[in-house]
Amino acid sequence: MPIPTYPEAPRLLTVDDAYQLGLAKVTDLFRTYLNPGQYQILQLLGFNEVLIDHAEGMYYFDASGRGILDFFGGFGSLALGHNHPRILAARKHFEEHKRHDIALSFMSQYAGALAKNLATIAPGDLDMVYLCSSGSEAVEAALKLAEKVQGPGKNTIAYGSQSFHGKTRGALSVTDSSLYQSTFSLISNRTCVPFGDAPALEEKLQHDATIGIVILETIQGGAGIIVPPEGYLLEVRKLCDRYNVLLILDEVQCGVGRTGRFFAFEHEQVTPDIVTLAKSLGGGKAAIGAMISRRPLFMSAYGTQKTFLTGGTSTFGGIGETCITAIEALNVLYDENLLENCRVMGQYLLTGLEALQKKYPVLIKEVRGRGLMIGIEFHNISKSLPLGLRHMVATLDHRLKGSICGFIGKALLKDFNILVAFTEYNRNVMRLEPPLIVTRQQIDTFLQALDSILHRGVFNMITKFALTMAKTKILPPRS
Ligand SMILES: Cc1ncc(COP(=O)(O)O)c(C=O)c1O
Repeated sequence: MPIPTYPEAPRLLTVDDAYQLGLAKVTDLFRTYLNPGQYQILQLLGFNEVLIDHAEGMYYFDASGRGILDFFGGFGSLALGHNHPRILAARKHFEEHKRHDIALSFMSQYAGALAKNLATIAPGDLDMVYLCSSGSEAVEAALKLAEKVQGPGKNTIAYGSQSFHGKTRGALSVTDSSLYQSTFSLISNRTCVPFGDAPALEEKLQHDATIGIVILETIQGGAGIIVPPEGYLLEVRKLCDRYNVLLILDEVQCGVGRTGRFFAFEHEQVTPDIVTLAKSLGGGKAAIGAMISRRPLFMSAYGTQKTFLTGGTSTFGGIGETCITAIEALNVLYDENLLENCRVMGQYLLTGLEALQKKYPVLIKEVRGRGLMIGIEFHNISKSLPLGLRHMVATLDHRLKGSICGFIGKALLKDFNILVAFTEYNRNVMRLEPPLIVTRQQIDTFLQALDSILHRGVFNMITKFALTMAKTKILPPRS
């Protein structure tokens, strides 16, 4: 090992330097210091050719003024769009008045007001709020609180198949992905149940009295935008009550209005014991997560002078600027009637996609979702090929998953300046989570662009894309 050097005065890049970096240099930095593997994927999709200068509303802009319509929405983090003027103003006011940020020693008016707002929005006695900096942290807090309440002997966690709850160790332990779980050591008190199957959960509960916690996404995001069958969550709620089990609903992605209600569970007339939020809670500007729990649970676990530190917040949990951003985000959501816009525009988009599915049944297998959390599932690649070729390619279907989405995503960006996303587990699914401010006209622009790409006769281009994938050696992993 070479002897390390510790420079007295390291030559650092300044903020101004950062603003001036061109695409080539940024690429170099990303590949060298951040994430060479991810860069390959960005390259394949052509996303590496764009350097964003700024963003506003529904659009990203590069330095030349090219606008890119955002139907990706930061995996659901941009309910209000980019740089909403009220969010900017709230943050500016905070800074200009030198408001205090880290106030672990004092009461915080900002954390207090945010917690009150969340408790007001949440139903029933879901009104104790734990603030943190990410979705994973909120999930960790939820699992720990539930475990503390249930105690040893009733602390096994049942989680859904194809779940995604985050990548910190506890959250990862209940994330059903062999790719993400890899060879990491995980918590052992857990068991996987088929998502959407209440009888299967009941059977587990009958046979394993140690199960004391159920955690589910109200709508699964990473799995490919999976809305559970009607009545499933209500049945899960009843089972949890019958077997003395705590129900955690993870709304990190589907919460904060994404489905046209503040909480996605409102569609199901179900109230969990604990709910997690993050992403859009930060108004597109702040890293914030929240766990909201029923008061009696929180009080029994952490309600005293002796126990509060066990569940206490972390250094950045509830810091001032983050909290005022979230307070303003919640107000904007209601003042601008964005839940209503989400419901109307979501239906409009879904109807348009259903029409495209009818037009291209060989390509589009299903469109589904709720509000503005929508997935377009494409058929396996062999299905889109002429009959004679289908058989030959069918064996490659699994390895080529993602090709159609990748090809269409690339063409949407390159030819139509539209950004979309994909889902982690089912790579045949294109994920649409545009900001809730989206207009009818912007949806029309998206639908026309998709139509014209599908119309091109995708066969040749998909094959080309699949070959590029194979050449770049980034075929999706075998699961
Ligand atoms: C449902 C769900 N839970 C938890 C997380 C983890 O959130 P974060 O990436 O902020 O840690 C995510 C992130 O995508 C998510 O979709």
